[in-house]
Amino acid sequence: MTKLPKKVRIVEVGPRDGLQNEKQPVDTDTKIQLIERLTQAGIQYCEAGAFVNPKWVPQMAGSDDVFNRIARDPNVVYAALVPNLKGFERAVAVNASEVAVFCAASEAFTQKNTNCSIDQSLERARDVINAASAANIPVRGYISCVVGCPYEGEITPEKVSYVAEKLLAMGCYEISLGDTIGVGTPASVVAMLQHVLTVVPVETLAVHFHDTYGQALANILAALQIGVAVIDSSVSGLGGCPYAKGATGNVATEDVVYMLNGMDIETGVDLQTLITTGHWICDQLGRQSASKVARALSG
Ligand code: HMG
Ligand code: MG
Repeated sequence: MTKLPKKVRIVEVGPRDGLQNEKQPVDTDTKIQLIERLTQAGIQYCEAGAFVNPKWVPQMAGSDDVFNRIARDPNVVYAALVPNLKGFERAVAVNASEVAVFCAASEAFTQKNTNCSIDQSLERARDVINAASAANIPVRGYISCVVGCPYEGEITPEKVSYVAEKLLAMGCYEISLGDTIGVGTPASVVAMLQHVLTVVPVETLAVHFHDTYGQALANILAALQIGVAVIDSSVSGLGGCPYAKGATGNVATEDVVYMLNGMDIETGVDLQTLITTGHWICDQLGRQSASKVARALSG
């Protein structure tokens, strides 16, 4: 295998992407315990909540409380998802270490998810990035629907590059490319990545795969071989997007860490502690883990 990174940064999105789609309410104490357990397992970057309109995503309504009450490890980044300046101000008020703005490569998905066009969402992102830069707060940028959209079908790589180039030029330090509905295969993902790499350097890219069609690990391997060294994942494969019907959870962090351990790629995460955390949150939610590794190693 060529070009594999020696080290990968895991961006744990379970407390945000994982829990945002839960039908049942998840109380703040459970969210806090989840974040603390994840960081005890060695997670160094955790998306701990979202400051979006609580009417749109009720599960994230308590993010203020979560940020205020988590016991913070000084070596951990606690990031918050924000759609606009109002969200940014809420994130600053609770001392989020970083914020993430989110756009999509699909017009229809952007409308459903954020009630605006792609260009309007980029303008909102610009406002957040400018305010964050003045406050010395790093900003990560997400792009959803990078290979397929639940409303528009196939998405061309050009559309992804358009948004990626703009977000990077505005000042995002990293662009996370999201296969929101998990339809990509290594072929479509590599084609998309190669196009994006004509406008954005590989050091600034992360990948964010949902495992709806069971393609996530294969797609991650393809991205690693291109040199991407930041992977978003969710403990136990929790999650989905409320505005992408049928989307299952992100790739399970346990499965990613198992694969990277086997490839001698460092993550800093302790697999066994992570598996215990995954079982604990699944017990709280009354469900089975979607991580094959967690099930295999606990059977
Ligand atoms: P809108 O309704 O067009 O907003 O929503 P508005 O500016 O017209 O304001 C309407 C009301 O919302 C006002 O309150 C605002 O104050 C309030 P009112 O006057 O009616 O009482 N409001 C807010 N309240 C709290 N926090 C805020 C905020 N902003 C406005 N930040 C908006 C536009 C973008 C806010 C809305 O569409 C929204 O919140 N969308 C969020 C959707 C979401 O969270 N989706 C899931 C996350 S994205 C994802 O999961 C994909 C990802 O994982 C990658 C991948 O997998 O692809 C990242
Ligand atoms: Mg997602």
